[in-house]
Amino acid sequence: MKNFTLKALASSAVVLASLVMPAHAAGDAKHPEAMEWSFSGPFGTYDRNALRRGFQVYKEVCASCHGLSHMAYRNLSQPGGPEFSEAEVKAIAAEYLVEDGPDDYGDMFERAALPRDGFVEPYPNENAGRAANGGAYPPDLSLINKARGGGADYVYAILAGYEEAPEGMEMRAGLYYNPYMSGGKIAMPAPLLEDIVEYGDGTPATVEQMSADVVHFLEWAAEPKMEERKRIGLMVMIYLSIFAALMYISMRKIWADQH
Ligand code: HEC
Repeated sequence: MKNFTLKALASSAVVLASLVMPAHAAGDAKHPEAMEWSFSGPFGTYDRNALRRGFQVYKEVCASCHGLSHMAYRNLSQPGGPEFSEAEVKAIAAEYLVEDGPDDYGDMFERAALPRDGFVEPYPNENAGRAANGGAYPPDLSLINKARGGGADYVYAILAGYEEAPEGMEMRAGLYYNPYMSGGKIAMPAPLLEDIVEYGDGTPATVEQMSADVVHFLEWAAEPKMEERKRIGLMVMIYLSIFAALMYISMRKIWADQH
């Protein structure tokens, strides 16, 4: 009898443990390190220069495979973002072709993109994206920092964390070892190599620097109004504390008269 209860206890402990830690079995991934981002915390803001460099990395490297469907070129000049000038945004948009129409004859035509156009997608549809990437679809990056647990730290770790596959691990063609990806295998070849971009501001383009910059840019893309939100939050807090102090003082006055 005693033996039986012990056994029952032991097996329920195993069941409990598997319930509590299911992530461990599935996600043998390395935990991303916590980074210091200027945008963290209640007073955090974006770093304009990092946003501009990050846009350059996105445009020159990531955009050939990943869309950024929530963005239009004109967003790049809005306050709280990289704040490119309107002329700069015009020039950036004009590098791309978009389909427009129909014209007076009913034909569609191509024209240079304008600031009001959305970012041009790398592929016409998901199947084309998969076909070009050995069956894996490069996800849209508009909300990637919010969509993945670990946020900016995780995306940084993926980009800067490629390693040689450990001995004995079999890597199918088209898969690459990355300890931060659950399962350790990712269908994206390491996109950043030292000096793959040349920064206009002279910042050395190391893999870590480019990863941090593009993640900074993607954080802004996921929450372009963050600075405004924090500013309003701060004003509300100041207003509420002044209001509370006034209430406290007047309550004391009112009650003082009662004695
Ligand atoms: C050659 C095409 C290609 C380029 C260039 C590329 N990626 Fe990817 N990326 C992929 C593919 C394919 C996947 C899907 C991988 C998978 O599901 O295993 C992916 C996945 C990702 C993911 C999701 C990882 C996850 O958790 O599922 C992120 C984040 C990402 N890429 C960011 C970037 C950034 C940032 C850049 C530019 C620095 C970039 N990629 C450049 C093809 C590319």
